Amino acid sequence: MYFAHLLPLGLVAYASAQSLGTILTQNNATLSTLTSLLQLVPDVVQTLTTAQNVTILAPSDAAFTNLLSRNPRSAELMTNPRALTGVLQYHVLKGKLLSTDFSATPEFPSTLLSTPFANVTGGQRLQLALVNNTARVFSGYKQMASVVTPDLEFDGNNILHIIDTVLTVPATPLQTLLNTNLTSFAGALQAVRLADGVNSLSDITLFAPSNDAFRAIGSAVGSSLSNNDLANILGYHILLPGQAVRFSTDLLGADQMVLTTLQGGNLTVRRDGNQLFVNSARVVLGDMVVANGVVHVLDNVLNSSNTTATPDPAAATQAPAFAGVSAVADAPFTSGIVPTTTLVPATVPLNEGGPFAVVPTGVMLAAGAAVLAAGM
Ligand SMILES: *[C@@H]1O[C@H](CO)[C@@H](O)[C@H](O)[C@H]1NC(C)=O
Ligand SMILES: *[C@@H]1O[C@H](CO)[C@@H](O)[C@H](O)[C@H]1NC(C)=O
Ligand SMILES: *[C@@H]1O[C@H](CO)[C@@H](O)[C@H](O)[C@H]1NC(C)=O
Ligand SMILES: *[C@@H]1O[C@H](CO)[C@@H](O)[C@H](O)[C@H]1NC(C)=O
Ligand SMILES: *[C@@H]1O[C@H](CO)[C@@H](O)[C@H](O)[C@H]1NC(C)=O
Ligand SMILES: *[C@@H]1O[C@H](CO)[C@@H](O)[C@H](O)[C@H]1NC(C)=O
Ligand SMILES: *[C@@H]1O[C@H](CO)[C@@H](O)[C@H](O)[C@H]1NC(C)=O
Ligand SMILES: *[C@@H]1O[C@H](CO)[C@@H](O)[C@H](O)[C@H]1NC(C)=O
Repeated sequence: MYFAHLLPLGLVAYASAQSLGTILTQNNATLSTLTSLLQLVPDVVQTLTTAQNVTILAPSDAAFTNLLSRNPRSAELMTNPRALTGVLQYHVLKGKLLSTDFSATPEFPSTLLSTPFANVTGGQRLQLALVNNTARVFSGYKQMASVVTPDLEFDGNNILHIIDTVLTVPATPLQTLLNTNLTSFAGALQAVRLADGVNSLSDITLFAPSNDAFRAIGSAVGSSLSNNDLANILGYHILLPGQAVRFSTDLLGADQMVLTTLQGGNLTVRRDGNQLFVNSARVVLGDMVVANGVVHVLDNVLNSSNTTATPDPAAATQAPAFAGVSAVADAPFTSGIVPTTTLVPATVPLNEGGPFAVVPTGVMLAAGAAVLAAGM
């Protein structure tokens, strides 16, 4: 059974451009895997053939081959219609975005992926940006895909871009922290039993200090720190839910903004050119999409009692926001914390300008497996 046969005849007949089925058939040399996967999920086909103003990011055959060789477990997920539906929904953006709409300033469009695979109002997001003159897509764990064949238009004012990597469905905050070397923050959340609570929120914006940031204040977070104080410190790194997810484009929208945290205290986000600071901490990696929002990585731990801390944007590093602390050798809270895989997020500038340092890594669907398995 070919995909084209599934299309409602009327749609094909009065097509002004061409049908999705025609595009898939014409590009069968690169899209045959996607075409055969679609046959397992008639509901997704139904959605796509009646869709208006959507953008499909269609992984090439090579993208699927790559995924399977890196992660054999993905083969199993690909035969599960429910998991496959989630994966494919994450590859469909609301809105028609041509390759010329990609710019150095990132965009975070919504996708068709929603509950139970994501707790983000309006649908799970991903990042689009023009990096080194190539249209790129950043998904869970900030894994990068590139558009290889842009702008295949189809009926309904829709567009399809062929991409070279299967997108990673964003994992929970805990899984994401664990697998991107943010194990101190992950361990700290687990130590005070906050991880499940954070995973269960919707539309979160989380500022996650790096392991080095926790090492730098090691003496302040030793065994003398009560769970209550630690929970207060951690809660100050999460914006109060009930507001839209704050991506870097939003945070860069004003010279300064005061935002309220889950802990109750306020923090101040400041921009300096295309750099962002939270109190005195620098955002060293922005916009890592997670199952229920976004994570921005900081180079310092925030102190809710030191809200007047301000950055020195010219300095490469900032003083810890905890007076009189001393560093420790081992990253705090990491004892017994074991990543399920190790992923290196792509590093891209928060906004135009600045040097690019993209680290392309293979996408691992298994990384998002926990999220997908939960919905099976
Ligand atoms: C598409 O390609 C696949 C794999 O190469 C092949 O098995 C299939 O017959 C092709 N379908 C069409 C319609 O050409
Ligand atoms: C699709 O976009 C066109 C033009 O941008 C607009 O007129 C139309 O209302 C949109 N349709 C839907 C269903 O959003
Ligand atoms: C979404 O939130 C619900 C309720 O808190 C939770 O059970 C579910 O696991 C969450 N889904 C994801 C993908 O994190
Ligand atoms: C992970 O964190 C440790 C401790 O901060 C650091 O030494 C190491 O370089 C980091 N690894 C990566 C891949 O970032
Ligand atoms: C936090 O900021 C809000 C809005 O600017 C303000 O109303 C509130 O009083 C502040 N809270 C604290 C604890 O400073
Ligand atoms: C945070 O900074 C305040 C001073 O502003 C300090 O008294 C406090 O000890 C710091 N918090 C922790 C947990 O060390
Ligand atoms: C507040 O943070 C600044 C770093 O921005 C640090 O120099 C200062 O010592 C901290 N103050 C207290 C009282 O912790
Ligand atoms: C982008 O360009 C820079 C500078 O030429 C280079 O170092 C980097 O590897 C390029 N990144 C990608 C993803 O092509």
